Amino acid sequence: MLPIAKKYWSRSPHGKKIELRLGPALETLKTIEGLFDLVFIDADKVNYINYWELCLTKIRSGGLLVIDNVLWSGSVLNPEDETERAIDEFNKHVCKDERVEVVMLRFVMV
Ligand SMILES: C[S@@+](CC[C@H](N)C(=O)[O-])C[C@H]1O[C@@H](n2cnc3c(N)ncnc32)[C@H](O)[C@@H]1O
Repeated sequence: MLPIAKKYWSRSPHGKKIELRLGPALETLKTIEGLFDLVFIDADKVNYINYWELCLTKIRSGGLLVIDNVLWSGSVLNPEDETERAIDEFNKHVCKDERVEVVMLRFVMV
């Protein structure tokens, strides 16, 4: 994935603004100062709640937390393995979170 990302960054006039940090996300996030406008969470699902909680301390008011895979092909309706249970638990956590407004978008390829 990295070579593809770098290829497109190099083609963008904004590519020079991108600073790549590779490492365990929870540790890396703690080293980043300042507030985020937008966060996209799409790493290990068992840590989704940890990413959520940490990122909420680092997002500006009005910022966006975008979370991928919250339906996990529908398996969250009947979670059976660790990943499915983690996503189900995460979804319930977010729904109860009064600090945010929650919107779900479903994209369908046509
Ligand atoms: C589903 S892929 C993300 C794809 C990416 N969002 C994209 O659209 O190209 C999940 C990525 O999270 C990374 N990852 C998994 N656990 C991680 C962790 N604890 N810290 C940092 N990265 C992690 C994996 O190496 C993998 O590259």
